[in-house]
Amino acid sequence: MSSVNLSDRIPNNVNLSNDRTLQRALEHWQPRFLNWWDEMGPKEFAQNDVYLRTAVGVDAEGWASYGYVKMPDYRWGIFLADADPERKIGFGDFMGQPVWQQVPGEFRSQFRRLIVTQGDTEPASVEQQHLLGRVCPSLYDLRNLFQVNVEEGRHLWAMVYLLHAYFGRDGREEAEELLARHSGDVDKPRILGTFNEPIDDWLSFFCFTYFTDRDGKYQLKSLAESAFDPLARTCRFMLTEEAHHMFVGETGLGRVIRRTLEVMKETGSDDPAVIRQAGAMDLPLIQRYINFWFTSSLDLFGSEVSSNAASSFANGIKGRPDESLYSDHLALNDMFELAVPVGDDGQGTESIPMRNAMNEVARVAYVKDCGMGLKRWNMMIQRAGHEIELTLPSTRFNRGIGAWANVPTDPTGRRISAEAYAQSLSTWLPTEADRAHVRSLMQRVVEPGKIAGWLAPPDRGINNQPSAYEYVKL
Ligand SMILES: [Fe+2]
Ligand SMILES: [Fe+2]
Repeated sequence: MSSVNLSDRIPNNVNLSNDRTLQRALEHWQPRFLNWWDEMGPKEFAQNDVYLRTAVGVDAEGWASYGYVKMPDYRWGIFLADADPERKIGFGDFMGQPVWQQVPGEFRSQFRRLIVTQGDTEPASVEQQHLLGRVCPSLYDLRNLFQVNVEEGRHLWAMVYLLHAYFGRDGREEAEELLARHSGDVDKPRILGTFNEPIDDWLSFFCFTYFTDRDGKYQLKSLAESAFDPLARTCRFMLTEEAHHMFVGETGLGRVIRRTLEVMKETGSDDPAVIRQAGAMDLPLIQRYINFWFTSSLDLFGSEVSSNAASSFANGIKGRPDESLYSDHLALNDMFELAVPVGDDGQGTESIPMRNAMNEVARVAYVKDCGMGLKRWNMMIQRAGHEIELTLPSTRFNRGIGAWANVPTDPTGRRISAEAYAQSLSTWLPTEADRAHVRSLMQRVVEPGKIAGWLAPPDRGINNQPSAYEYVKL
């Protein structure tokens, strides 16, 4: 097992003190990171004690410690899952060879681009969420928001470590750029579209952590298969933390829906106007938010047909999520049947070589995973005696990237005319009125144990604490 240095200025399990040059470079980047956090993070809460978990090692049993921390004092560290000295490349043209401890020169720019793209999403989400604390529905939720924020900060550290340690001067420059781009900035936006979308209400935050953090999970799963072992180990440990972010999304949306069902019962109505009047969020509105964040997150996987994805797979750069579940790790002979638009209003299938379809393979796995929460929520709705079902829209609906980009379809994926699309859009995606209603419900609730009226309380607290615990000392 790797030894953990918690007393270093940068906590780590990569023996940073043995590499003075690297240590100095990262210690030089550290104050820049802190400046960025102070400016772009949840700065209004910089002086408050928050009950946070901090990664202190990679032991499955006890990798985190819990306690009150002021966020700027959070111990952002560099932790890689333990190395397996026997690990072999698990897919692609180099299958069966020992994994790489350095980046092969010919794949350097591909690796760098992937690491930068992943790294860019981490601080982006902190920026997107930086005002949510003002209108938190409870101290419990406020704490969860900050937990997600500090861990996205740590994920930035994880990628910056790789850039500094393995990519020389280019890597150091990229690390600076990761702090220079900002979510939604007109001149220097974040790299990927979804990470420039505003998140100014908590329904969007729960959708983001459910759908967009889950995209992160699938990207990390792909990178956790990489032949470049330090990248694989970094991502494997990040996945441990990421699970909590999706928990926040799934339980958050579940609690919103549970509250809506209570209000439907209390009022004896499912009329959106009545539900809104009673201070909750109607199910059609929730469905529209799901439609928006799900389809936006689908684009993050890239085009269905991609020679880039094929070469990433061939070269061992990026595998399929859960590569070990497949029996054929070469993927040289199989074809993938892809639904594509044909002509003005039709659709057909196109057969493409499996390696070129790797983005789509990952997307399909992601969609299936997204469906799990919906099943649970629908059970809850059904048990409350309602016919309504929340659904994931078709992967052809509302796409901005790939074969279906800007092809008008309804949420079931059926092609329709541009006029019909424009006419129905307000029933499929959040409207200004929806957003205004959601905003109107965003009232700050910060008494321990109290909860805003538009969502149900959590089932249990964090780390066995009661749900009425003072998770943030204001
Ligand atoms: Fe992350
Ligand atoms: Fe995350």
